[in-house]
Amino acid sequence: MCGIVGYVGRSEAGPILLDGLRRLEYRGYDSAGVAIMDGDRVETRKCAGRIAELGKLMTEKPPVGTYGISHTRWATHGKPTDQNAHPHFDGSGKLALVHNGVIENYQALKEDLLREGEHIFASETDTEVLAHLIGSLYDASAPANGYVPPQNEKSRLVAAVRAALQQVIGTYGIALVHRDIPDFIVGARRGSPLVLGVGKEENFLASDVSAIVAYTRDAVYLNDFDVVAVERDKFEISSVAGEGGNYEVSKVEFTDEDIKKGDYPHYMLKEIFEQAGSVRDAMRGRLSTDECTAKLGGLDMTAAQLRDVGRIVLTGCGTALHAAMIGEYILEQLAGIPTEVEFASEFRHRNTPMTRDTLVFAISQSGETADTLGALRESRRKGYRTLGICNNVASTIARESDGGVYMHAGPEIGVAATKSFTSQVTILLLIGLLLGRMRHLSTSEGSHIIGALEALPDQIEQTLKLSDEIRGIARKYAASPGMLFFGRQFNFPIGLEAALKVKEITYLFSEGHPSAELKHGIIALVRPELPSVFITPDDAVFSKNLNNMEQVKARKGPIIAVTSGACGDRLRGIANDVITIPSAPAFVTPILSVIPLQLLAYHLAVELGRDVDKPRNLAKSVTVE
Ligand code: AGP
Ligand code: GLU
Repeated sequence: MCGIVGYVGRSEAGPILLDGLRRLEYRGYDSAGVAIMDGDRVETRKCAGRIAELGKLMTEKPPVGTYGISHTRWATHGKPTDQNAHPHFDGSGKLALVHNGVIENYQALKEDLLREGEHIFASETDTEVLAHLIGSLYDASAPANGYVPPQNEKSRLVAAVRAALQQVIGTYGIALVHRDIPDFIVGARRGSPLVLGVGKEENFLASDVSAIVAYTRDAVYLNDFDVVAVERDKFEISSVAGEGGNYEVSKVEFTDEDIKKGDYPHYMLKEIFEQAGSVRDAMRGRLSTDECTAKLGGLDMTAAQLRDVGRIVLTGCGTALHAAMIGEYILEQLAGIPTEVEFASEFRHRNTPMTRDTLVFAISQSGETADTLGALRESRRKGYRTLGICNNVASTIARESDGGVYMHAGPEIGVAATKSFTSQVTILLLIGLLLGRMRHLSTSEGSHIIGALEALPDQIEQTLKLSDEIRGIARKYAASPGMLFFGRQFNFPIGLEAALKVKEITYLFSEGHPSAELKHGIIALVRPELPSVFITPDDAVFSKNLNNMEQVKARKGPIIAVTSGACGDRLRGIANDVITIPSAPAFVTPILSVIPLQLLAYHLAVELGRDVDKPRNLAKSVTVE
């Protein structure tokens, strides 16, 4: 589920493979390794722990060679140990393989291998079984005696990879090299992303294009069941079944500069501060002031089809799910279309009753999340129109949906999602505006919404100026055992999102709830050490929130309030700390109210000395179930 980099060219492979891993470091991992062809030996260095440790091993004894593969592992089968780190070898010790994903039937495959011959396994991983399987199929296909031209060795290895993958149940992104076949890498994917980077007299493989964008911006996004044979000056794509593959070389949208931290201490802070621009980019060219509506050509639906939508399902995981929950309020209020939010992981495995006029939106920053992809595929199988809201162009979800809307937020490196969230909510507002204007919304309501959207980038800039004030609040509460978050209506999911941010990067206990739920049980937790954060802008439910705050105050619970407009004054004397954001209509307010809470989680994490961009146990994109 983590990182793969492969290189074949004329430069030293070691620094390129290591640099690529560093660029994927943000995705979360527990071990790292490389295999480089050094003369007639496959040299490996691997270890549990950070890429810096691998770097040390490579400096102590540098492997020399111009092609190889590297990997960061996020353990699924077997503990994060040096032995279990990839690459893994086949029985002959000549074939080295790195793998992302899970070989679900590895036990059965292992038993078959052990029945057929002697296989000694050095690790507990599912990956090593695949290496042995490919290696034994390759060795078994060797002609009894005699010389085999190198070209035939290549096709024999590709055939062995295909034959092995035909036996595999599960997911994989793989890259492998064989000692006897110089300047040759084989890659394949199913359910775990793999990109081919096309260079001049050099080619690359990577699980994410950001690993190689410093070297080339020409990329082929491989499809599931593609097998690619990569050489220095050519590549060939076919399918696991042995058919010729279709591909297209596309230009990567961003550059190496876009994935640098600049002057910010952390990617997360950089991305929080990018939100005025990313929200503007989500709207760019998509608002029609003449017709007071939104234009979303990527949906690829006619006006008649859009008018016929009778029900909407929004699905995703984590932060994307929280955006979906705000989407439900937005779509029901602006367009009056009954909308359901479904955890992708639940939705994909149950038989949700759906009507023929249901439109399914899969929301995902990475476009690769296994659960969301599963939900999308299940909806398609049942014949529903599915649309993607993704940030990663050419990601699997974007490619497999019937249409969609790209976020254009630029690369999001921090594991804690920030700018992708505000872009997702912005896009859901555009969808609500478009569908609403096809139904009951008047031109003046349409232009009111457009006005509120256009005001957002400046209001985000103003909100970001609160960062220092919020740092002070974070310091004050850094010794707390956790935090509770409460909000109503559009801001209830903001409570969930804030609690997720705090959990992810501070490791403190935190929960979000609808404010009114307080009295149904949560109030038992309230005590002087545990702060409650109320997201309570100047809206129709402000006075209801005020009642709930009084209930907390009566039990001596400290209160931090995020509010807007003149409501700040009404909170003095009730809340211990008041954060005031710009006033905006209720449906756009979540885009502003989440920002102080992203900053609160960030400053708390820094105060507690946490690894903000690479929090423990987490991976940026979760491509396993
Ligand atoms: C957010 O901070 C998390 N890291 C996580 O919940 C994330 O939002 C979730 O895994 C979904 O990712 P996606 O948007 O790439 O599908
Ligand atoms: N399943 C493999 C392992 O546990 C690969 C994990 C990964 O995707 O990093 O080693």
